[in-house]
Amino acid sequence: MDTDRLLRELSDFLRIPSISTNASHDADCRAAAEWVAGELRRLGCRDVQFLASDTHPVVWGVGPEVPGAPTLLVYGHYDVQPPDPLDEWTTPPFEPAVRGGKLFARGAADDKGQVFCLLKAIEANGARRGPPVNFRFLIEGEEEYGSRVLFELLRREPERTRADAVLIADMAYVAPRWPAVYTTLRGLCYAEITVRTAKSDLHSGEFGGAAPNAHEELARLLGRLKTPDGKIHLPGFYAAVRRPSKRELATWKRLPFKESEFLKHRVQAKALTGLKSYSVLERLWALPTFEIHGITGGFTGNGAKTVIPAEATAKVSLRLVPDQKLKVVERQLAAAVKRLAPKHVRTSVRFLHGADPATVAVTHPAFQLLDQAFKDVVGRGTVPARAGGSIPVVPALGKGGAPVMLTGIGLPDDRLHAPNEKLDLQQLWDGINVFRRFYDLLGDKGV
Ligand code: BES
Ligand code: MN
Ligand code: MN
Repeated sequence: MDTDRLLRELSDFLRIPSISTNASHDADCRAAAEWVAGELRRLGCRDVQFLASDTHPVVWGVGPEVPGAPTLLVYGHYDVQPPDPLDEWTTPPFEPAVRGGKLFARGAADDKGQVFCLLKAIEANGARRGPPVNFRFLIEGEEEYGSRVLFELLRREPERTRADAVLIADMAYVAPRWPAVYTTLRGLCYAEITVRTAKSDLHSGEFGGAAPNAHEELARLLGRLKTPDGKIHLPGFYAAVRRPSKRELATWKRLPFKESEFLKHRVQAKALTGLKSYSVLERLWALPTFEIHGITGGFTGNGAKTVIPAEATAKVSLRLVPDQKLKVVERQLAAAVKRLAPKHVRTSVRFLHGADPATVAVTHPAFQLLDQAFKDVVGRGTVPARAGGSIPVVPALGKGGAPVMLTGIGLPDDRLHAPNEKLDLQQLWDGINVFRRFYDLLGDKGV
């Protein structure tokens, strides 16, 4: 493998700040889409197109036709999350840098580095021709913002998902040298809760002691939505939560995961929180969450200002698990906010984006080929696991009946969405070889 060239090419991709949740980066998202389209053309794809959006297009491509060969739909995303806080990065997020065998950049693991593996594994090298597989590509630019564009597209044109299997590499091994396939993804309900307490801000000396304070009301409201021991306080919220079977819980005990190590090396905090009567893996994979992402309003500038804020907003989200439904949870959250706020407070809830949870059965023969590919390249097959994160469009990708294979070549310490995101170079090279092996197995054996 010409690793110098590959590293140069991936770095070009990573240098594009394709932050989908921030409109000032629309042109960068478009540029990242162009980069993907260029790669698809180089692989000999016909019909490379930008679909459904000018700023965050879904990149579609159809690989060279191989009569009689199975069809594989490859999904990934070229958009990334915002890189802040910037001053916590050792090197800037969009200036890819290699240190200690790791490539540091926003998107290195989530998901540009993995999309790169999926594509480079197809490249013919030397006497070797491309694998005997009919490829279809759907590489989107809005995954980190709820995938609205792709959802709409698949609703109008469900035939895009027609394939013998769908392959997604947007996750990690469960531990170093332990590749995984994922049987569930959590869903997400992302919302802004705003409270308004007066017509405008008030002098805290003139009015303090008698006027309501929006931040205080918001803090109390948020405090009521989750108890200190981690129970989410929305009526009916847990009714649809399906507990994993005893057998599944038992398999998690055999995974190389230690709660104390998780606290010490991954969370790096003083203690773990949440529902203590459940194991940490069950809390991460099979139970819903409520998180506060940020609170704005009032005075947050430099210095001091004595004011009673009239309005405050919290960005929050709930992670959902099978069989919860986004639409139901939206109603439950809106109702709870209304019920828990005192009469003198005006509240509103705005839903920004979300996703239903996803469940995939890993019994289809295609999973055996993926397992074999990992065995051949990294010496261990895939363990079934669950994912705490979300990929909104997964249920829609499976609607056509093809098995959706959720896997990845990242590691648990890649720091997705956080400062100093990285991808280990060994994972990158192994990843290319694993997917190359998988494509060959799929082409030779079929499914
Ligand atoms: N690749 C992640 C999803 C993921 C992360 C799966 C970790 C398994 C383990 C994806 O890019 C992601 O971050 N999704 C968002 C979706 C949301 C913004 C709708 C997420 O989970 O927050
Ligand atoms: Mn991702
Ligand atoms: Mn992500």
